[in-house]
Amino acid sequence: MSNEKADQMIRSSSVEEMSSVDLDSAYGPSGFRGLVKSSNILFYALFASLGGFLFGYDQGVISGVLVMSDFETRFPRVGGNGDLQGWVVSIMQLGAFVGALINSPLADRLSRRYSIAVACVAFLIGSVLQAGAIDNSMLFIGRFIGGIGLGQISMGVPLWIGEIAPPNLRGSAVTLQQFAIASGIMISFWLVLDYGTQYIGGIGEGQSQLAWRLPFALRAIPAITLLVGCFFILPFSPRWLVKVRREHEALAVLSRLRKLPENHPIVQAEIMQIKAGARFDALTIKEKFPNAKSSAQIAYQQYKELFTQKHLAKRLFVACFLQFLQQFTGVNAIIYYAPKMFKSIGLSGNSVSLLATGVVGIINVIATVPAIGIVDNFGRRVVLMFGAIFMSLSHFIIATLYAIYEHSWAEHLSAGWAAAAFVWFFVFNFAYSVGCIAWIYPTEIFPLGVRAQAMGIAISVNWISNFVIGLITPIMLNYIKFGTFYFFFAFTMVLFCWVMFFLPETKGVPMEEMDKLWGGSEGKETADRMARIQNELKCESRNVPNYSKTSSYSDELDIEMQEQY
Ligand code: BGC
Repeated sequence: MSNEKADQMIRSSSVEEMSSVDLDSAYGPSGFRGLVKSSNILFYALFASLGGFLFGYDQGVISGVLVMSDFETRFPRVGGNGDLQGWVVSIMQLGAFVGALINSPLADRLSRRYSIAVACVAFLIGSVLQAGAIDNSMLFIGRFIGGIGLGQISMGVPLWIGEIAPPNLRGSAVTLQQFAIASGIMISFWLVLDYGTQYIGGIGEGQSQLAWRLPFALRAIPAITLLVGCFFILPFSPRWLVKVRREHEALAVLSRLRKLPENHPIVQAEIMQIKAGARFDALTIKEKFPNAKSSAQIAYQQYKELFTQKHLAKRLFVACFLQFLQQFTGVNAIIYYAPKMFKSIGLSGNSVSLLATGVVGIINVIATVPAIGIVDNFGRRVVLMFGAIFMSLSHFIIATLYAIYEHSWAEHLSAGWAAAAFVWFFVFNFAYSVGCIAWIYPTEIFPLGVRAQAMGIAISVNWISNFVIGLITPIMLNYIKFGTFYFFFAFTMVLFCWVMFFLPETKGVPMEEMDKLWGGSEGKETADRMARIQNELKCESRNVPNYSKTSSYSDELDIEMQEQY
């Protein structure tokens, strides 16, 4: 849509008509075309996705390090088949669980961008401790602190990207983050381990300690880049600026992000929407919890609502169960322990198993790319069901081959390669389906008033499940061997059946109408409240030509909002 047309549309319309749908068409195409057109958003989102890259790199690097001979010699209880192996992987997820939860207040108080900076510092401290580890405790403490940073990042980065992106690019941005995670995993597998540091000093007895210290230390490069970027490159989120009543700055940032002048109708309409959102939050809190004054009291009430209101509890269950099942597909059992798994299915030699792991990384990245188109065209349910059924098939075949050839892999090399091919097929099906969609549902199914809290809980479920997988996988591989794959087969079947019989389709459902899928009155109340706000804004917009020059919140709400921040 041309600027003149958008101008005309916005001038002649009421505030209701300046809905996201209108803005969507005013902004132009979504997906790849939209990202290329909005090159600055693409740049900022990619830059912030360095956080996703760190998350992926950290997840991937550990699997290679654990099988390095120098590492095994120095940390016998951690490397190889050591009894602490599961813990050294899982302690990071435990830290991330804590990090995801604490980032919520940090992102509100300090701003989204500085909460990411704090996360980078935690991550750097963790990296230094791990790269310099001389005993188990340094390694464990380093992984825990680094994990806190990663947990914060996993929440802060998508939050920031979502808040700077125009409505038509928000979906693509979620996939970009997943793409960055997958890229981080691939780089750690492929460039650093398969063709890189494991060869320093040779892969056998004479292996240098640099072989594993370097990949731990290299993480500092993207972390420092992101840290510096938080101060000098990434702008404040305009939504956060409006929330903390720095509205002139919000307008300036938004105009820079949209590459349009501050008084341009699109920028004016969007700032109005952001304002409506902030006012809506304040009004929701005021009406639902008239006695809750401090931010702690308000947060408590909102958490309570999530568990006590039936339709909210249902949605919370869906978001959390999807996160849980994403992890219990066994994807991280493969990401963390792929070299060990490939060895266990008969691919002998360090290099062969690491090479097979490198292929996992590549497939994971490539299969993420088309996700955005598939999810929006075919709907979430069908993509999830396809992914789940093929993931189940893969696990079933791997488990069965393992059961048959467990003691004769050497004589049946082709069976080993067939099992490896199904590990790759599994990863392919994970990447375009539940890999992306598990992140999409929590962002769209909750009413605005409780969305942040609900998402925080869902993301922490992802990390705690990730923690459990990291912990139990080596134990299962040692004790129940092929049963490990039957175990994951069972969960991918649960995913398939649950999606088929219970999960509602959310494709194309406007957020305000999500309520219809779950029952409850939240949707109507929400709509009424929004209508009132829109009416108010409509009057204001007719009276004042430029929003940036107005102080338009009602006094009462103004005070409410200021009290909260
Ligand atoms: C998951 C991670 C996983 C990654 C693999 C993400 O969606 O949350 O735990 O390692 O996908 O690409």
